[in-house]
Parts: sequence; C-alpha cells; structure tokens
Amino acid sequence: MIQFDFTGVDAFIDKSQWSGYEKRAHAAHEALLNGTGQGSDWLGWRTILKEPNDALLENITALGQEIAERADVLLCVGIGGSYLGAEAIIEALSPYFPQKQTDDTPTPARVLFAGHHISGAYLEELLGHLEGKSVYVNVISKSGTTLEPAVAFRIIRSWMEERFDDCHQRIIATTDGEKGALRTLAKQKGYRTYVIPQDVGGRFSVLTPVGLLPIAAAGYDIQSLFYGAVSMMGTLEKADGNPAIDYALRRYLLHEAGFTTEIMSVFEPRLKAVGAWWQQLFGESEGKNHKGLFPVVSSFSTDLHSLGQYIQDGKRNIIETFLTLEKERGDLRVPPEAANLDQLNYLTGVSFPDINRAAFEGTSRAHLKGGVPIFTISLSSTTEENLGRLIYFFEHAVAVGGYLLGINPFDQPGVEAYKQEMFRLLGRP
Ligand code: PA5
Repeated sequence: MIQFDFTGVDAFIDKSQWSGYEKRAHAAHEALLNGTGQGSDWLGWRTILKEPNDALLENITALGQEIAERADVLLCVGIGGSYLGAEAIIEALSPYFPQKQTDDTPTPARVLFAGHHISGAYLEELLGHLEGKSVYVNVISKSGTTLEPAVAFRIIRSWMEERFDDCHQRIIATTDGEKGALRTLAKQKGYRTYVIPQDVGGRFSVLTPVGLLPIAAAGYDIQSLFYGAVSMMGTLEKADGNPAIDYALRRYLLHEAGFTTEIMSVFEPRLKAVGAWWQQLFGESEGKNHKGLFPVVSSFSTDLHSLGQYIQDGKRNIIETFLTLEKERGDLRVPPEAANLDQLNYLTGVSFPDINRAAFEGTSRAHLKGGVPIFTISLSSTTEENLGRLIYFFEHAVAVGGYLLGINPFDQPGVEAYKQEMFRLLGRP
C-alpha cells in the first residue's frame, strides 16, 4: 500500500486560482490517457501495462533463474535509463549485506554495474574482483552506441571471451528490436537478446526487459512488480482523487510561485537509489525551455548533518518530498547502560525504526516551519508490488506535470550538448 499526504504544501499555494489550474491538470491527464499530448508516440510505458505480455515475464523469470543458478555475478552494462531502474528496485529490496540462504533455493546472482561512468580504475578493479567467479553479462543499450557502456563492453566482452567457452550463452543483449550496433553484434555472436520497445524512452523502461532481467536475476518477483504498476495504472485512470494529478498540480503551482528545487528525502539508505531513478525521471522529463524543478535526492539522517542547515534556513526555493517506510526490518533496540555517560538511557528499549520515525516526523515538522512545502509518500513496506505501484505513480505524475509546464516530457534534446563537446575533444571523425 502507498499513502499520500500533501497537506504540507497547502499553506504555500494560492488557492484563489485553484479551480482554473485544476481544470488544466485534468486536461493534461486526459491528454496523457488519450495520447493527444506532446510526444505521444513515446507512451509505450503505458501500452506495456495495458497489454501485459505474460509469456515475456515468464521467459525473463526463467532466464533470471538460470543466471541465479549458474552465476555468482550478473554484470549489467548500461547508463542512465538503462541501469537506474534496476539498481533502484534491487537496492530497495535487498538486504544491506549479502545474507546466507537458509533453505535450498539457489543464492541469487549479485548484480553489479559497469558502463555507468567512465572510470577506468573502477572497471579494472571490478574485473579483478570478478576473477575466478562465474559471470553473466547483460549489456543494455537502446542505441548500442552510447559511449560509456560501449567502451566498457569492449573490455568486458574480450575479458569474457578469454575466460568462458560458453561466452555467447553468458552475454545477453537488451537493445532495439531491429537496428543498432548492439543488435548487429548480438546476431553475429549468437547472444540471447531482449527488445526495448521503440516507444519506451530509457527513463521509462524499468518495467521492460531493461529493468526486469537484472531484477529477476537478483531473485525478485518481477510479476508482482509489473502487476503492482498495472494496478496503480488502473487507480490513476480516474480524474478525481487522483494522487498523481494532485502531486503534479501542486508541484506546478509551487514552480510558478518561484520554487526551483525539489529534494526527495529518504530515511532508509536502501531507498536512495529509488531517489536516483526519480531524479533522472523528473530531471530529464521536465528540465526544458528553462523550466522545471531541479530534482535531487538526499539520504537522512546522514545528509541532515550536511544539507540540513541549508534546507532549514538557506534560500527559500526548496520543496521536499519525503519517501518513507511505515515499518522497517529489524528490531534492534537501545540497550541500558549503568554509567549512562551519553545520557541516552531515556531511550532504553526503544527500537531503531521508532527512533528513525521520530527523526522523520521531527524533520518534516521543522522543515515545514522553516518554509519548506512538504509532500509525504509512505510505502507500507518495500515489496515488489508496492515498488511497481510507486514507479507508475511517478511516471504518470511526471507526464501530467510536463504537460502542465507546456513541454514534451518524453524527449531529452539537452543531453546531446555535452556529448558533442566531448566528441570534439576526443577527435571523433
Ligand atoms: O533516459 C534516457 O533516454 C537516457 O538516460 C538513456 O537511457 C541513456 O542515455 C542510455 O542510452 P542507451 O540505452 O541508448 O545506451
């Protein structure tokens, strides 16, 4: 279950013009549903949920099991939308440190990432770490020519070829259905392949094979994840009492009122990667024509000791979205101590989740008092189903929010600029 509490925003919104803006938000929602808004040829992320391909989900689950049985590590090679979704879901669901299996089920593969930056040291040390291990590789690139994963995959491919006779069985390519360098290479080498639908952009692709295969290999239930999103899509078809419209509309009004930055704050570090996925979804979708809220994730209470001062008391241009968990795992409690030197005996017997909840509630109240509009989104727990719901909620909200801003939420022309400069420096012909 997911609960939404947006009351912490109301004091910052001028309600006198509410009904006009509400009409516009409903029109934006209708445009999304009817496929009449900007970039409507990029709505495949809705089509896959409207027409679920159960055979594909089963096929990916089976390959995930094969990888879990045969590999110590699945190395995912991709950047941006080609890895952030998988990383978000796997981190949210995984224990902080690898646990020993207590029953006979195979230990899931550890999913590691490469090609998501250009650090040569990382890649070299990663391959050193993989020496002697059973490795599968999932290279994920829609275009097949993105620099970071493409150069990393050159190195990884020859590393795999030198070590594994059944290398073509161990490398799986997730790419465009027909064209592109990776599709051609996969054909030549006999790799197994998955298709990234033409009409699904990278940041909307976590529920395609892009995200689903790594998640399945990590041992998680992709059917529940997928159908969680399907059920949220059903909930968000209605116009009234629609939390995605409510979120998009309030964000838009805050944007128009001069707020510039939205922080997603989490109180469990394993949700930070969900924030990184959200950051890309909102940053690439909204940041156009000099518009949009700048999205940034922070992990509390850690970052309260670095960013807390600014959020509380710095320039008043920040809004905050708390992503919280109703109940966290574990039951560590504060032990009594005879000397009580640290004066913490008043906490004796109190659980860490309860202290963390007080940290969240206290922070939320303090930030609100300090002039920060607060959205709160609470997951009852981190299940696959809840995470699927959350993914679709944000996808729907960013589309409606993009239409309210009057931009195309599905393209990303601005990311080409740094590439052109970099390629010039590298002497690309
Ligand atoms: O959201 C996007 O479109 C981007 O982040 C892409 O996913 C990223 O640039 C990787 O592109 P490709 O999958 O073509 O390698």
